[in-house]
Amino acid sequence: MFELTNRVAIVTGSGSAKGIGREIALTLSRQGAAVVIADINIEGVQDTVDVIKEETGGQVLGVQLDVTSKESVDAMVEVVLKEFGRLDILVNNAGISQKVTVEDMTLDDIKRIFNVNMFGLFLCSQATAKVMKEQKYGRIINLSSVSGKRGGGVFGGAHYSASKAAVLGFSKNMAREVAQDGITVNSVAPGLINTEIWKSLPKEQADGIIANIPAGRPGETKEIAATIAFLASEEAAYINGEDIDINGGQHMD
Ligand SMILES: NC(=O)c1ccc[n+]([C@@H]2O[C@H](COP(=O)([O-])OP(=O)(O)OC[C@H]3O[C@@H](n4cnc5c(N)ncnc54)[C@H](O)[C@@H]3O)[C@@H](O)[C@H]2O)c1
Repeated sequence: MFELTNRVAIVTGSGSAKGIGREIALTLSRQGAAVVIADINIEGVQDTVDVIKEETGGQVLGVQLDVTSKESVDAMVEVVLKEFGRLDILVNNAGISQKVTVEDMTLDDIKRIFNVNMFGLFLCSQATAKVMKEQKYGRIINLSSVSGKRGGGVFGGAHYSASKAAVLGFSKNMAREVAQDGITVNSVAPGLINTEIWKSLPKEQADGIIANIPAGRPGETKEIAATIAFLASEEAAYINGEDIDINGGQHMD
């Protein structure tokens, strides 16, 4: 079950050493997919490629990608098709955040956050869906956040929450448009995950946050990756336009 053999998966933002994207790429590779490591950080890309080669031995391709540039996104799709001849799964994981109050926020701050978290996700989804439509098969999985549902405040400002709420509406609308082409578009909304940024919190602050998480701990990147591997599988064909909360019970829809 949930095998991804012969599938080709792009994971954006997978160059971060302790990030969610690398774990997603590793998990999809373990399930048999050929994975494309796409990130603006080229050293990070190479590092993740090396980790995948060492840990899974699966097929892997590294590409420098700026999700905010249509030229960069189109070039990536071209390289992927040249290398693998198909493209089945897109995980829109690249994302940025900024902790700032609305009072102190500038319009440029908002544009910068939306440019990556929402407009970049749009460019990648549009370019890959064209290929998926021809294949009559595709899986697009978008990273939203608990912040997009109930506000955040720990690591991000209102612009981050707004961008992640936008991801939810975009995913549902696109899911309706492409359903007849064998493509599903879903999202996941992680709560606080045990990444570098979490580890940077002072203990008292971390304890205060944990006190409000029923599971009593932050999430692990593996827990996000496992859900995404499921949504990326053939078996999840009848799940479309859904958002899955992965937050230890911190927020329940
Ligand atoms: N960490 C959490 O607790 C948490 C919680 C909820 C949602 N999320 C979401 O999950 C995703 C991954 O988060 P993370 O904590 O692993 O982040 P991270 O900062 O570790 O990784 C993000 C990656 O995106 C890349 N990136 C940034 N701008 C880019 C661009 N223009 N083009 C291509 N790549 C770009 C970065 O280089 C980086 O490698 C993000 O979308 C984030 O908003 C994270």
